[in-house]
Amino acid sequence: MVLKLSPLVLGFWRLRKWGFTAQEILALTERAVELGITSMDHAMVYRSEAAFGEALALRPPMRDQIQIISKCGIRPQGFGELGAESVNHYDFSKAHTIQSVEASLRDLGTDRIDLLLLHRPDFLMDIGEVAETFAELKEAGKVLHFGVSNFTVHQLESLQSALPDPLATNQIEFSPLQMSPLGDGTLDAAQRMGMRPMFWSALAGGRLFRPKTKREVAVVSALQGVADEVGAMSIAAVAYAWSMALPSRPHPILGTCKIDRVEDAVSSLTLHLSREQWYRVWEASNGAPVP
Ligand SMILES: NC(=O)c1ccc[n+]([C@@H]2O[C@H](COP(=O)([O-])OP(=O)(O)OC[C@H]3O[C@@H](n4cnc5c(N)ncnc54)[C@H](OP(=O)(O)O)[C@@H]3O)[C@@H](O)[C@H]2O)c1
Repeated sequence: MVLKLSPLVLGFWRLRKWGFTAQEILALTERAVELGITSMDHAMVYRSEAAFGEALALRPPMRDQIQIISKCGIRPQGFGELGAESVNHYDFSKAHTIQSVEASLRDLGTDRIDLLLLHRPDFLMDIGEVAETFAELKEAGKVLHFGVSNFTVHQLESLQSALPDPLATNQIEFSPLQMSPLGDGTLDAAQRMGMRPMFWSALAGGRLFRPKTKREVAVVSALQGVADEVGAMSIAAVAYAWSMALPSRPHPILGTCKIDRVEDAVSSLTLHLSREQWYRVWEASNGAPVP
């Protein structure tokens, strides 16, 4: 089955902070789906899945309208869900991955995860063991597709070499205030491998709305200048359009809990920046023009 994610993805990392009821989670999700945002980003470590599962239980047909993304492999100290952790660590062992997926399925109240990502690279990753784990989860119908998050190009290529199917994505941090993937090969690799990346903190975790440093002020001013030129609703819409202008065709992940901000984000899908507008934002972030 082909994985089809929506161009924009809705992220639930901050769900516990929102303090939403199940009904409020459902309302946000339903509106997002109406707007064409059908891919929902979770992780076992966000502790967002049980609350989302309760929201889904209010409207079971919603499950077939969305794609659920979950992540595994981070074990914070004292996290407690799957046992006592004495130190923050990563764990891509077969036993832990399977336990984590089982916990996610139980909390979400579903029989399948559409896309499972290895959350942050585990330095003790045994690529053969990961391949076996993926095969077992796929065979059981518990996970339909696999990908990674925060992987370097070498880590990505190493894991890919052990797998029969292409990894679906590398979910990475990218925004006008985090441009490292433009220069470290991550986005070149994504393009070469035909793998659409996903961008987390595409609005720099909200820092675009409270600029403090000279660099942040310059970036916001450049985004505002472009917004005025193209008639965008907000600098957020320009920031998303700026990310989506990349030829690897990334999926930005929205981190907002506000329906009007989700609607605003959708307006970015019809914005097109010229090369000069794109480079003006790049230059503001870089602090100097291209040579
Ligand atoms: N794979 C990974 O390692 C990883 C790491 C981090 C995040 N993620 C994923 O990426 C998703 C998005 O990350 P993120 O939450 O950092 O995204 P983000 O969109 O960069 O930041 C979201 C924050 O910005 C605020 N915000 C958004 N629009 C705003 C506006 N117009 N004015 C003022 N504040 C605004 C939001 O507040 P409001 O809610 O009030 O709008 C929220 O606090 C997460 O939910 C998670 O699914 C993945």
